[in-house]
Amino acid sequence: MKALEIKENVFWVGSVDWDLRDFHGYSTEKGSTYNAYLVKGDKNVLFDTVKSDHIETLLSNISQIMDPSKIDYIVSNHSEMDHSGCLPEVIKLVNPEKLYCTADGKKTLIAHFHDESWPFELVKDGDSLDLGSKTIEFIGTPMLHWPESMASFIRQDSLLISNDIFGQHWATSERFDDQVDSGELWWQSAKYFANIFLPTAGAARKFMSKLEKLEIAPDMIATDHGVIWRKDVKGIMDAYARWGNQETKPYAIVVYDTMWGSTAKMARAIARGIATDDVSVKLFDLRYNHRSDVATEMLEAKAIVLGSPVLNKGILPKIADMITYIKALKPTNRIGAAFGSYGWSDLSVKQLNQALEDLKVELVDPGMSVNYVPTDDNLAACEELGVRIREAILAR
Ligand code: FEO
Repeated sequence: MKALEIKENVFWVGSVDWDLRDFHGYSTEKGSTYNAYLVKGDKNVLFDTVKSDHIETLLSNISQIMDPSKIDYIVSNHSEMDHSGCLPEVIKLVNPEKLYCTADGKKTLIAHFHDESWPFELVKDGDSLDLGSKTIEFIGTPMLHWPESMASFIRQDSLLISNDIFGQHWATSERFDDQVDSGELWWQSAKYFANIFLPTAGAARKFMSKLEKLEIAPDMIATDHGVIWRKDVKGIMDAYARWGNQETKPYAIVVYDTMWGSTAKMARAIARGIATDDVSVKLFDLRYNHRSDVATEMLEAKAIVLGSPVLNKGILPKIADMITYIKALKPTNRIGAAFGSYGWSDLSVKQLNQALEDLKVELVDPGMSVNYVPTDDNLAACEELGVRIREAILAR
């Protein structure tokens, strides 16, 4: 994609990655973009770079606006390699006067690239940089999602360059939120929050309050991934406030793996008991669903219901993987229950209950286990378990 002017003298110069399918365990089935921005003025400033193998696109896009050697400053809002990967080559080529980043940013960049000779200029929360016609205000965004992360606000343009915050892993030829399918946009935005920011949801909450205190109500948000928000800026900011608060909706996710189909039958019976006009349910057989898609559906789910048969006195590996993943995401304010079939050791429900307690999920039922294959009576009991989960959801 070519460079694009998004505000007067502010250009998108990033790269679209149509092929990315995995981002440290997060399935990026629709690719991603690495957004970098170039501000032209008394001083020319590049905000972040791109993943190392996308350097040619970055340089080609910058060259459509100016000779890259005319860049005076680089701002590193975030040191992760998808934004800093080609920094060594860019610094060599551009020879910038200054490389702006936080103190933690400097440490992180040195730990990655081992070059202390770069022209680091440290900034902290509240510092600003006067470029003549534009002023950049630096806003610390620690743990969103790295300790060094920051955002940059250009007040004259009402433009927030937000690093990963408000982003989506989604490759598109369009650059703005009003040019793409809104259902997909919201799914990808929720997926991004669930898989990247949920572990530090409290930091997201603080960031939204900070923006309010600083009277920053941008009319455009230029993220480091996906499309730029210009139409529904309020929508995504409201969503981050809601997700940051871990607000839930009355629905349940039933997440399971099955060996010979018994646990799957139980899952479907439990789901029948949960589903009503007031409460909805979604089933995820982990043989067919990726952990990061399940995490997306978990983002606002009130109830997390886990199922596994017993395998070698334990639970099936895909459920163990899902539990490990959920544990790191740290959902709060949830209820749950467990179920599963067994042969000669009735152990999986006990282990799943323990896992739910470790996740700080409130158990609303002792759970249900079935020997080998469920009978009609067993399935009726599973449906009743679903009803109890539904009642618990409605009671919270
Ligand atoms: Fe897009 Fe945290 O890197």
